[in-house]
Amino acid sequence: MADRYLSFTATAPGRFLTARLGLPQPAALSRWTAERPSLDGRLLHLTAGGPSGLDLAPVLARTGLPTATEAAGTTTGSTGGSATGSTGPAAGSTGPAAGSTGPATGSTGPAGSTGPAAVVLDATGVRDVDALAEVHAALHPVVRSVAASGRVVVLGAPLDARDHHQAAVQQALEGFVRSLGKEIGRGRTVNLVRLTDASAAESTLRFLLSPRSAYVSGQVIGVAAEGPDGPVDWDLPLTGRTALVTGAARGIGEAVAETLARYGAHVVVLDVPQAAEDARRVAARLGGSALTLDITAADAGERIAAELPDGLDVLIHNAGITRDRRLVNMPAERWSSVLDVNLASVLRTTDALLAKGALRAGGRIVATASIAGLAGNAGQTNYGASKAGVAGLVRSLAPRALAEHGVTVNAVAPGFIETRMTAAVPLFIREAGRRMNSLAQGGLPVDVAETTAWLAHPASGAVNGQVVRVCGQSLLGA
Ligand code: NAI
Repeated sequence: MADRYLSFTATAPGRFLTARLGLPQPAALSRWTAERPSLDGRLLHLTAGGPSGLDLAPVLARTGLPTATEAAGTTTGSTGGSATGSTGPAAGSTGPAAGSTGPATGSTGPAGSTGPAAVVLDATGVRDVDALAEVHAALHPVVRSVAASGRVVVLGAPLDARDHHQAAVQQALEGFVRSLGKEIGRGRTVNLVRLTDASAAESTLRFLLSPRSAYVSGQVIGVAAEGPDGPVDWDLPLTGRTALVTGAARGIGEAVAETLARYGAHVVVLDVPQAAEDARRVAARLGGSALTLDITAADAGERIAAELPDGLDVLIHNAGITRDRRLVNMPAERWSSVLDVNLASVLRTTDALLAKGALRAGGRIVATASIAGLAGNAGQTNYGASKAGVAGLVRSLAPRALAEHGVTVNAVAPGFIETRMTAAVPLFIREAGRRMNSLAQGGLPVDVAETTAWLAHPASGAVNGQVVRVCGQSLLGA
């Protein structure tokens, strides 16, 4: 079901009318295409809180965006009057940094104007409230000039359990990022990455600083210190790898299969016997194979392992169902069917495949939660329970799966995504779902797929136990 409001607001009369009426004005998002694989413009690298211990410059240079690095010139403890980086021209830059030539006034034009396409603010050195003022000072002059569909990525440090001042201001960055995400507009996103090692976070920074992350905003992503083992093919990272996607005959699962195949994986398209024809069609199109199997079967894990005697590298738990009813009207069958598909089968197949050693070292498991699971939703006690359960599974299993099997475990939590599932939602609720997020529109299956592909990336080994929302920063449980 096309989003007609989004098309209308892309026209001049639509823009005029919706502005006059104070209605949401969604910007058309720039997504990845083969012709336009990266953001269109330069990257501004700022620092707050004094010099950082991160070796960021080479990692940012490899994003392919021309980078203007502003010197971390201010002292920690400044009162915020002097923005970090406003002390001089960009070192080694391809042009002056926006903030170094004075506030970016007048550069409020569309993409392609003088503003940067992306801003990375390294705030890992912020340890007290005075230093936090440098976050304001660094971003205040440049935020307005960031191009449409541009990116702001703030880098933070892990919270220090022995220093409550550091923990307070590092946690403050979350409120800052989430608030800025809600006000920045024009299809721009704002995210926070907590890290201690820049190269371990390279796949994450590349993802967030690209059009692939168009519908990911207001997120806090933790990245551990281990870097990727061995060289990485950034163009075809999944070459030679086998990925199994459950529920891949249509919808989000089909987009995930397509994206993983585009990254070079051999994809196994798993779906129920009733969807066998669609599963075979998708598999044939992607040069993969189809496996018809009800994932709730008690021996589903064993059958997958038997089908893939050489093992697999990427396991995507995408299959899911809804059977909505308020709890007072919900028969036990609606409860158990949803819990069985969305949670019990995820637990069972994961356990079986790990126990059999079917997931090769360097493997990736990505499960599908939902913002309804994280925030709760009327009529979805069964679905909400199942999807919150997925988040619990991920957080508990991730450290052990990495230690014992060399496999990471993460989840994506989609918000309102334009699929057959959401097309069936009554009009008024559908419109509310689409608009109640910072980007004022629904996401596309490819947005979930790209996020899944980042988590499945061989260079994402330091991303583990994360539940990343793909929801345009939905107001639901934000
Ligand atoms: P969909 O209904 O279009 O596709 C789900 C697929 O899973 C279908 O092909 C179906 O045949 C398959 N499936 C269902 N039960 C199965 C079983 N027992 N064994 C094997 N395959 C089975 O759903 P959609 O929208 O593509 O959702 C995919 C995932 O994303 C689900 O887990 C859903 O809960 C989740 N999600 C979707 C959102 C949305 O806005 N569409 C929002 C949040 C989460």
